[in-house]
Amino acid sequence: MKKQIIAKAYWRYLLYVTYLKRYLPIRFLPLPSYVACLLNYNCNLRCQMCFIDFESENSRRELITPDEYRRLVQQLPSTAVMTFTGGEPMIRKDLFEIFDAVKSHVRFTFVTNGNFLTEDSCRKLLSYAPKNIFGKGLISIGISIQGSEKIHDQITQKKGSWEKTAKGTKMLLKLRKEMKQKFPIIDNRMTLIGLNAPFIKEAYEQSKEFGADIFNIAHFYDWDALTTDIDTNYRNSSGNYEIIDSIDKNKLEKQINNILKKNSGQTDLRFTPNGITRKEWLDYLDRDFNPKHFRCSVPWMQMIISPDGDVITCKAFQSAGNIREKSVKDIWQGTVYEDMRKTLKKVGTFPVCAGCCNLVSAKKI
Ligand SMILES: C[S@@+](CC[C@H](N)C(=O)[O-])C[C@H]1O[C@@H](n2cnc3c(N)ncnc32)[C@H](O)[C@@H]1O
Ligand code: SF4
Ligand code: SF4
Repeated sequence: MKKQIIAKAYWRYLLYVTYLKRYLPIRFLPLPSYVACLLNYNCNLRCQMCFIDFESENSRRELITPDEYRRLVQQLPSTAVMTFTGGEPMIRKDLFEIFDAVKSHVRFTFVTNGNFLTEDSCRKLLSYAPKNIFGKGLISIGISIQGSEKIHDQITQKKGSWEKTAKGTKMLLKLRKEMKQKFPIIDNRMTLIGLNAPFIKEAYEQSKEFGADIFNIAHFYDWDALTTDIDTNYRNSSGNYEIIDSIDKNKLEKQINNILKKNSGQTDLRFTPNGITRKEWLDYLDRDFNPKHFRCSVPWMQMIISPDGDVITCKAFQSAGNIREKSVKDIWQGTVYEDMRKTLKKVGTFPVCAGCCNLVSAKKI
């Protein structure tokens, strides 16, 4: 309970700070406090809902090296948090070189499908943990698990993938306990689609049995729809939204209430987007839902960097530059981010933004 109250208070604080940043002149706007780096566009799995374009031309471009990540973090504020994701980050042979390059500069998290977790890699990962909440290093690891064994393997389209993820999660948690470490926090992540929605209670129970700190349920959204259908309601857009058509909002709400009622506090249930209320989160499943009263936090707090260094901002806007060619400051203060700020201040969000993890509720301010 105490953990939940602290997490909520921290989020509320972040919302206010991000909101206030909207009114700062560009020269006073702090550099991004959150940077997400996609380490590759490769993966051993093919999850049915995944937004990664594995065939993209970009996947053949030269990857950012550990030294280039070192130069990147040296430009960020010491309070910045980085996330390493993909594709599947553990496919990169130089993953630990990247972590070595950033570990003393920032707090960072990483997200994996857990299929490559071995005893050696778990020990190595645990060695990046900070001593306390204020320390630099690996503060959390997200391990994606899409449901119980049968559903997970159906969604990832790879038989045996659940077994590997479950084994890896348990090993990491067992070793963390043996080493008497609190960090990194381990959260299991599930993306909600029609196939796993009826079974979230089972998935939560399984994560609790592993001993995970958090079980997080994320809304599905389709980045590709952003490029073409920005002003269209997301459910009528060209996105792959049939994948969530069969979700029954009332049944889902009952399952969630049921979990929350019995939740002992050992494994927190969380939701993405997490800057909105529970009701707003559930309303996403209504076909006529329009996030017009939400806000987008991106151009005031974060950068998303592609495997070859392009700063993506959001698919609805063009690339803001490449970290190989420009400094973080020049990109952050450049015209693409400035246009994005101006547009989003005017429109709030677009109808197609529903489900995006960068949404925050405007009602709270
Ligand atoms: C893209 S994956 C990359 C990291 C790693 N391969 C993994 O699966 O954890 C990061 C997270 O995005 C989630 N995800 C994938 N496709 C999604 C979509 N269309 N909408 C929302 N979340 C999605 C996955 O479930 C995973 O938790
Ligand atoms: S494991 Fe991650 S990157 Fe791979 S297909 Fe699934 S969601 Fe996409
Ligand atoms: S909320 Fe922001 S980042 Fe997300 S889709 Fe909308 S404009 Fe893009």
